[in-house]
Amino acid sequence: MKVLILGVNGFIGHHLTKRILEETNWQVFGMDLSSDRIQPMLSNPRFTFSEGDISVNHEWVEYHVKKCDAILPLVAIATPKLYVQEPIRVFELDFEQNLKVVRHCVRHKKWLIFPSTSEIYGMCPDEEFNEDTSNLVLGPIRNQRWIYSASKQLLDRVIWGYGQKEGLKFTTFRPFNWIGPGLDSINAAKEVSSRVLTQFLWNILSGKPLNIVNGGAQRRCFTYISDGVDGLMRILSHKSDNHIGQIFNFGNPTADKSVRELAQTLIHTYNAHPLKPKNLPEPRLLDVSEENYYGKDYQDMARRKPSVDKARRILGWEPKVGFDEVIAKTVDFYLNLYAKNPTMELEKEAD
Ligand code: UGA
Repeated sequence: MKVLILGVNGFIGHHLTKRILEETNWQVFGMDLSSDRIQPMLSNPRFTFSEGDISVNHEWVEYHVKKCDAILPLVAIATPKLYVQEPIRVFELDFEQNLKVVRHCVRHKKWLIFPSTSEIYGMCPDEEFNEDTSNLVLGPIRNQRWIYSASKQLLDRVIWGYGQKEGLKFTTFRPFNWIGPGLDSINAAKEVSSRVLTQFLWNILSGKPLNIVNGGAQRRCFTYISDGVDGLMRILSHKSDNHIGQIFNFGNPTADKSVRELAQTLIHTYNAHPLKPKNLPEPRLLDVSEENYYGKDYQDMARRKPSVDKARRILGWEPKVGFDEVIAKTVDFYLNLYAKNPTMELEKEAD
């Protein structure tokens, strides 16, 4: 099988590529703006990398959609700070550029494996979000945080429409707070525009307090990247066609924690680690309002828990790595990097 991964150097892209090259005989073709995370894979003869931008290199993208069997367009802006700061860029990249890839898949009759998002459920009141029955509940237009969710939602609907009307073969997946080594670049964390786990880790390792936004009672189901990639591998290697035209949540419902609990577990794990740096101040929490942290256009969801019944039933997928273990593995990874490289160019060596 030939797999095309756009955004191959990203968090999901580089972990998925590594797993494919290790466990299968498939070929991977990938494009990204940079290649720091995929360096160890570049010499693999089954991996072809092209440095480029999907918004510019249209011919390369269409040529490779035509050439490959499974297409994963993983390029997107996916950090909440940027939804409120750069809403038009989010729409242009996450919706407009990805729509082009979707249409190439329709035209060339290729299998699209599309990354939707847990954000799509917004402030849905259901105890567990269900792919096929839950309502998608977003806030008012002035709260630009929802532009990412709305862009992804419209693409999910367009893909579904192409599936019904023009026979597009697709499988959609929704990551729920996938975390682990290599999540965000440290530059993003420096600008306070990183996702929560990387942000907290960077704050600890640069001697700054952990900002607890709006009290920290909001909850997420933190899911280890290897479990997420396992879900994608199950889709890619599935023998029957019963995953076609389906949407799957991939999240760990047993790792349902508040942001404050995340911060406390992280600090506890960090303090107990033998590589804890000796010269840094003790980590501490600082309460901040959402307006001060993100700006006035932000709005949050209080909770976000997936139903994974469908992924279990159709794909036999089950998240295996529990919350404490996810935090332990991630802290261990970053403290090892920090010990080697205290100037904090951490993302370059991210596995
Ligand atoms: C994320 C992002 O939208 C995407 O990465 C993705 O599509 C999706 O959710 C997902 O991964 O499932 P969110 O969970 O809000 O959204 O992203 P984080 O930036 O990781 O924030 C989680 C929570 O921590 C939020 O409630 C936020 O207010 C809080 N937070 C974040 C803090 O309290 N302090 C910080 O320094 C950063």
